Amino acid sequence: MAFGSYKGRVSEKPVNRPDAATSYCAVLGQPIKHSASPAMHNAAFAELGMNCLYLAFEVNPDDLGPVIQGAQSMGYWGLNLTVPHKILALDLVDVLDKSASDWGAVNTIVFEGEDSGARWKPLREFTQSRPLKLRSVGYNTDVGAIVRSLNEDIGLALKGSRVLLLGAGGAGRSAALKLASEGVGEMFLVNRTLEKADAIATEIRKRFPQVNVIAGYPETAVEEIDLVLNATSLGLKPGDAIPLDSSKVDLKKVKNVYDMIYRPSETPLLGAAKNAGCRTANGLGMLLYQGATAFELWTGRTAPVKVMRQALVKNIYGN
Ligand code: ATR
Repeated sequence: MAFGSYKGRVSEKPVNRPDAATSYCAVLGQPIKHSASPAMHNAAFAELGMNCLYLAFEVNPDDLGPVIQGAQSMGYWGLNLTVPHKILALDLVDVLDKSASDWGAVNTIVFEGEDSGARWKPLREFTQSRPLKLRSVGYNTDVGAIVRSLNEDIGLALKGSRVLLLGAGGAGRSAALKLASEGVGEMFLVNRTLEKADAIATEIRKRFPQVNVIAGYPETAVEEIDLVLNATSLGLKPGDAIPLDSSKVDLKKVKNVYDMIYRPSETPLLGAAKNAGCRTANGLGMLLYQGATAFELWTGRTAPVKVMRQALVKNIYGN
């Protein structure tokens, strides 16, 4: 529910109409105007009848510390961080949850207060009393969202599966390590710059020795690939090439193709995969599930994912 669209609605619910009792969350990024997160979270607040509002602010990286501090002082329940703030924030929050320290990035901050019994609690729990002290806790809800989206959007069970991952940048590295931690059987890491794929393969061999990891394409035609996952930026721009070398992998032998890109909704890779009969999904589910987990951390309520998905689809694709 976009701010302002409550007009004329017959509803008992406070639908994102701020008053003096409203609680706030926000996303910080640069640029930020494209963000679909306000639409998603405000739809969720409205659905649950919560007097909360989610805003978006363009923040220069140099100002990130003071902005986080200011939001904390103003009693914000939490923040999301997007490009270019996720790594910077590691040094700016008071406490790092394991999800953030494990993956080396913070995309969600929960503000907590200390009560009279010296217990730290999310700010939503301070309805009657004021916290004695405040602190910021950094989480990563992005990485878990990859697995949840693969499970829920294409029904993929990762354990023992054979995966070909395209891309070895930030997103590719996190995805590779997360899939390894989920117990995939075999992983091919393909990247334009081979050294980056090699470095990730070395890291996986050390941390997850049970995974058979290969930097590069399969040398001989493998029987079947369970998942091709695109974590490169190829497909974002009109006219981009397909990130997969079709002379090395026949899409007809691939069961599932997932593209982390969600804008456009169908990249050339997903189009080719559909034509070859693969099951496909784009990265909208990752955006949805990282948001759902953040929402649950801030509010303590089960995220209404159906409504959140509808809001994302409407905001991003206009239908
Ligand atoms: P992110 O944080 O989104 O992962 P990134 O770290 O810049 O962004 O990574 C971008 C990924 O897309 C990398 O795997 C990059 O390949 P290189 O490591 O060789 O740079 C890949 N990529 C970007 N443009 C590409 C292109 N034109 N062809 C092939 N791969 C490309």
